Amino acid sequence: MDRLYHVLEAQQFDIDQMDAVFSIAREMEQVVQHYGSNILNRRVMATLFYEPSTRTRLSFESAMTRLGGAVLTTESAQEFSSAAKGETLEDTIRVVAGYTDVIVLRHFESGASNRAAAVAGIPVINAGDGAGQHPTQALLDMYTIQREIGRLEEIAVALVGDLANGRTVRSLCYLLAKYEDIKIYFVAPEVVRMKDDIKEYLQRHQVDFEEADDLHDVARQADVIYQTRIQKERFGDRTTEYEQARGKYIVDRSVMDCMQDHAVVMHPLPRVDEIDPAVDADPRAAYFRQAHNGLYVRMALLRMLLA
Ligand code: CP
Repeated sequence: MDRLYHVLEAQQFDIDQMDAVFSIAREMEQVVQHYGSNILNRRVMATLFYEPSTRTRLSFESAMTRLGGAVLTTESAQEFSSAAKGETLEDTIRVVAGYTDVIVLRHFESGASNRAAAVAGIPVINAGDGAGQHPTQALLDMYTIQREIGRLEEIAVALVGDLANGRTVRSLCYLLAKYEDIKIYFVAPEVVRMKDDIKEYLQRHQVDFEEADDLHDVARQADVIYQTRIQKERFGDRTTEYEQARGKYIVDRSVMDCMQDHAVVMHPLPRVDEIDPAVDADPRAAYFRQAHNGLYVRMALLRMLLA
């Protein structure tokens, strides 16, 4: 198995590496229960976030802290770092790399993490690059599916919502394609359907997928309903398109009533109105457990990169 260095895109992971991440993540659940570890003592992580985040930034920072390391952080980096004075991303990365051992980068441009990795000289983790990818989210999503459903093969996954702008669903497709007997349903409003590059990738890797319109019907077949937010911030002044997409597919009691007993609802969060809070109490609502799993998966990645 190749040693992990950068984490830039989901398709870089093979099944052996994913197994290693998931196995260490299980260990990390125990580490957290026993109040952490000092394995990354004197290691320093920078979180450079040019777009808002709650889960990704704080779970990475918690992960590093729980492993005994230190954190340097810039949120709203476009405003509060020297990017505001016109510094290029490359120059910022070269400088921050001199202070730290790993950089966790969220940026509004697709491909920004690859640009950062080209000049960093230390590991770079893509924490979401525009509408490109979010590989650590996809890893925690797969970890959650394994924990909730008990397997990663022979599963049917419905990807719902903003599939055109959703970096989490793009990364998740790349990881699902590694496993046997996967069925993917794309359920999206017309204006935000899954892009052709992902469909072509799935075709090349013989993954069975179809586009569907009826969420209730899909809910009867799926092991996982993966709901996503319609990302208003990616529509710019196309407000009519946003209004067309918003509210078309909502996971509510009527959808839950169609689902199988063992199936789960996931969501990368944040949600707005695409999951009715009334279903939160249903044991099949897995999205807050999913967010919690992000801590263990990110602890595992930091350990693999730095220990
Ligand atoms: N899922 C996710 O990336 O959440 P944040 O934007 O809060 O980090």
